[in-house]
Amino acid sequence: MITTTRLILRKPKPEDAAAFFKVYSHREAMRYWSTPPHSDIEETVKVIENSIRGWETKDYYDFSIQLAQGQSVIGKAALHNIHKSSRRAEVGYLLSPDYWGQGYMKEAMTALIEHAFGALEMRRLEADIDPDNAASRALLERLSFRKEGELRERWEIGGKITDSHLYGLLARDWQGP
Ligand SMILES: CC(C)(COP(=O)(O)OP(=O)(O)OC[C@H]1O[C@@H](n2cnc3c(N)ncnc32)[C@H](O)[C@@H]1OP(=O)(O)O)[C@@H](O)C(=O)NCCC(=O)NCCS
Repeated sequence: MITTTRLILRKPKPEDAAAFFKVYSHREAMRYWSTPPHSDIEETVKVIENSIRGWETKDYYDFSIQLAQGQSVIGKAALHNIHKSSRRAEVGYLLSPDYWGQGYMKEAMTALIEHAFGALEMRRLEADIDPDNAASRALLERLSFRKEGELRERWEIGGKITDSHLYGLLARDWQGP
């Protein structure tokens, strides 16, 4: 568990499904996600089951983000595609639109990056974003990620083909919170 001033980042629980389904079924929140929006809560339940399995195998750390006050689950922040011997992982994040623009993901990701470069001894973090995802780009740049490349027509999601912009952050470049 990781705590920040306003947030708790913790292992997902099956009871998170209802809160997550609200986000995973939200068209605008899912606009740049790697899957189409969920239309059935069973899809969300499967995502949570995979997340819990990822913690057990240590292959994938998907943190539920909970408000420290009130205990609502408002999103997730993840380390996935973990390559243990190269000590690198990809970051992912999704926040309920009710909480956008209030610095929540910057707070959550700052704590997750500290954890990744600290306790988990990662050396490099990566992100793959849709070039049109201005919020994600701004968040990464705010966290000192550097744009490192562009891949053409990398994704095909719900019939739409999109490019990827790849970002990277090295532990030695991380200045801390
Ligand atoms: C990307 C996302 C997690 C950002 O969360 P957030 O909590 O609103 O972001 P923050 O408030 O912490 O903002 C971080 C920085 O990004 C900037 N930012 C946030 N949203 C922005 C937007 N829509 N346009 C431009 N800049 C934006 C903020 O101003 C802030 O920079 P600053 O500290 O210099 O002011 C949120 O928009 C989201 O969940 N989007 C849908 C899911 C998604 O696309 N995930 C990424 C897939 S790769």
